[in-house]
Amino acid sequence: MKKRVAVLISGRGSNMTALIEAAAARDYPAEIAVVVSNRPDAPGLARACAAGVATAVVDHAQFGADREAFERALDEELRKRQIDLVCLAGFMRLLTPWLVERWSGRMLNIHPSLLPQFKGLHTHRRALEADVKWHGATVHFVVPEMDAGPIVAQGSVPVREGDTEATLAERVLEIEHQIYPRALRAVAEGRTES
Ligand code: GRF
Repeated sequence: MKKRVAVLISGRGSNMTALIEAAAARDYPAEIAVVVSNRPDAPGLARACAAGVATAVVDHAQFGADREAFERALDEELRKRQIDLVCLAGFMRLLTPWLVERWSGRMLNIHPSLLPQFKGLHTHRRALEADVKWHGATVHFVVPEMDAGPIVAQGSVPVREGDTEATLAERVLEIEHQIYPRALRAVAEGRTES
């Protein structure tokens, strides 16, 4: 049986699209059962719809500062749809240990750096400032500590002379679209340890 996956987004959803496209293959071990956004205006929602994938919005703004209520609503949405695995894909909310622990070993994130380097935001700018020769992206299991957790897959790209944040981001994004479907396949087939 294919694993039922929820992809959580906040924005354009290019990683989400890569996952939807990979999951369309007959022999892929997971199906994208729903795309959930915390922002009603996330462009990725229309892309998911166009691909025939169910969408849901759990708008964090409606819960004000009550992070716990937001996460309970999110969790309910995932359980209602009998989700097995969750993929964070440009989901711009920090999750509390409560939700992370409920989905322990079943929640993945993609981060645009070669972790453990450059946790947090503005990874491409920081990679350029640090003058690294290689940069990339990481798919990892989500644990309470931000951008930590067992690594499932990484992909690297060279940093080129004259790169800007934008050109580097574009090169890294291409590799993200390759490693996320690969990582999800490995997890869905039980070939990883969280
Ligand atoms: C990606 O760079 C991802 O690594 C980061 O947020 C960005 C999301 O892009 N977590 P997209 O919405 O998947 O296009």
